[in-house]
Amino acid sequence: MEVHTAIHADRAALMVGAADSLVDAAKESIAERGRWMWALSGGSTPETVYQLLAAEPYRSQINWNRVHVFWGDERCVPPEHKDSNYGMARRALLDHVPLPPENIRRIRGELSPQEAADDYIEQLRRAFGLGRMEMPVFDTVLLGLGADGHTASLFPDTEILRRTDVPVAVARVAKLDANRISLTYPAINAAREILFLVSGADKAPVVQAILSGKGEQYPAAAIRNAAWLLDAEAAAGIGS
Ligand code: 6PG
Repeated sequence: MEVHTAIHADRAALMVGAADSLVDAAKESIAERGRWMWALSGGSTPETVYQLLAAEPYRSQINWNRVHVFWGDERCVPPEHKDSNYGMARRALLDHVPLPPENIRRIRGELSPQEAADDYIEQLRRAFGLGRMEMPVFDTVLLGLGADGHTASLFPDTEILRRTDVPVAVARVAKLDANRISLTYPAINAAREILFLVSGADKAPVVQAILSGKGEQYPAAAIRNAAWLLDAEAAAGIGS
């Protein structure tokens, strides 16, 4: 498996590197296809990247009119809830850039889990003009990594890992006693570009296992052809 890694000295440098990568992705997608279909990650790591993109010098480098945003996953909470991935992106980025509201495809966490998944599938079908069994082809999927090797809401030992028939499913995460809505493996792996954004020493063992080909037990290992944006702490075990 050919793997591209970019290792930055510290978290702050990683955030800048990630913002640079996302600007490049936006420019290339818009130049080639007239739009950028970007699936955002949740969690705490990407928040600073979103804040960077919302301000100069990054804000004016992206033609926000041509940007369409989606999410890799969402918690089953209303948009104003503190845990909402949409809410975080709204506060950090979307409220500060001229992205047309109709280009925001929010996973409606306030619905019942299955209704939210069905609704999001319908939003994807409309946004990508999909046929019945077709997978969306995102230009960029931004992903985080949990210390247990999960990504999006693809957690170890959960049913959603086996869903290859749909782009979106309900993830029942027993250890969190929570439901989540997540893109499935085929929807993520169909993307033109997948970026893992990983910071911190607690992620280093999983990063090292996956990048050395010994991490097959981790859900993130089944994400193919991703680029790994790492800080030195998260990359500590690489090459050992
Ligand atoms: C979420 C993310 C999840 C996240 C990892 C890492 O909804 O929380 O999709 O996959 O990326 O849990 O989270 P941190 O960035 O907070 O470490």
